[in-house]
Amino acid sequence: MLKNKNIALYVCGGIASYKAVDLVRQFIKQGANVKVAMTASAMEFVTPLTFQIVSKHHIYTDTFDEREEDKVSHIHLADWTDLAVIAPATANVIAKVANGIADDFVTTTLLATTAPIFVVPAMNSHMLENPATVRNFATLRLDKRFVMEPETGFLAEGYEGKGRLPEPLTIVESVKQFMIPRQAELPLKNKRVVITAGGTKERIDPVRYITNDSSGKMGYSLASVARDLGAQVTIISATSQLPEPFGVTVVYVSSALEMLDAVLKEYALVDIVVMAAAVSDYRPKKQASKKIKKSEELLIIELEKTTDILYQLGHTKQQQFLIGFAAETNNLESYAQEKLMRKKANMIVANDVSKPNVGFNQDTNEVIIFTPNSEPVKVSIRSKQKVAEEIFKVAIEQMIK
Ligand SMILES: Cc1cc2nc3c(=O)[nH]c(=O)nc-3n(C[C@H](O)[C@H](O)[C@H](O)COP(=O)(O)O)c2cc1C
Repeated sequence: MLKNKNIALYVCGGIASYKAVDLVRQFIKQGANVKVAMTASAMEFVTPLTFQIVSKHHIYTDTFDEREEDKVSHIHLADWTDLAVIAPATANVIAKVANGIADDFVTTTLLATTAPIFVVPAMNSHMLENPATVRNFATLRLDKRFVMEPETGFLAEGYEGKGRLPEPLTIVESVKQFMIPRQAELPLKNKRVVITAGGTKERIDPVRYITNDSSGKMGYSLASVARDLGAQVTIISATSQLPEPFGVTVVYVSSALEMLDAVLKEYALVDIVVMAAAVSDYRPKKQASKKIKKSEELLIIELEKTTDILYQLGHTKQQQFLIGFAAETNNLESYAQEKLMRKKANMIVANDVSKPNVGFNQDTNEVIIFTPNSEPVKVSIRSKQKVAEEIFKVAIEQMIK
């Protein structure tokens, strides 16, 4: 999403200026090019040298420090920019930007840029609530600037209040979300995607259940990739152990039956369904209403089959593109091909969960992607995020065939 994007970061004079150093690193990690401009007050808190080292670029601080004869530096930076981020944005710079004041490098360049402007305020809660600041925020929003909500917490002043700069990773996620509709060509724009994740739980009694080793990590990685490709994404999640990806709706379920109901509720209007959850094949035929006491030497629990969600979706499929997963320990290819046909899926992503670092509960995966009329695509071992990118690449190719 931010790969090769030119981000101009404007750092103002607030106590949270030091967090902007990590913000530069996080943007660079996403593949962005970052150039930093600082106000005179910002330099009271952090030195330009620190930003120069992390950004690997000269830091802009003075409108009249024209280093290159053939360029006016504030216009050059303004025109270079794909996205302008003000973080931390002081009450003072917010007031200036809202009113078109251009009396230093930061505010002059912000007035000259035509790139979208993303404002991350940080200030004392009383400054934030001041009617002048509230009015300036309203003006910025009218001017189509995006203003991120500051966080509530312990302020540098020694009391609780609203006004803290969000953590750099939270800012990056919010920036990515902001950039989605601004991307020229997003392959999943306006598409609705439902992804199931985690291992379902089938109750034996109020304190015991049958489950499996699925962590939900593959499903959650798929969700953030689909979101970055422009889709509206819902995760139907059988786990609550993972952080909710920014901008994704999460519906929590427990059993296979609850997952089936939740998927069917969405199914009619969905474009892509990815069944990445490990759905229990069996559940106890009877669920004890009270804890089963230890008594006999042998306890027999009768199990019955759950509904095969992928099969049901495949056999009622209309416009939906259906992706299933096959976690196998042997005969991977033949099981996956058979599953593809029998369940009427558009794609099966198979992984050999007997291999180390593959499948359940791992951060990495290695898969083979099967589709009805193409050669299988082998994806060698890599992070689940990267595997998710490959899965959607193949799915998009298949959908436009
Ligand atoms: C220790 C200290 C912390 C400050 N923190 C903030 C802050 O978090 N937010 C803010 O708007 N102003 C803060 N200020 C006030 C600004 O630094 C001051 O308004 C300054 O003129 C802002 O300049 P600038 O907007 O050009 O960066 C702080 C001042 C000091 C001395």
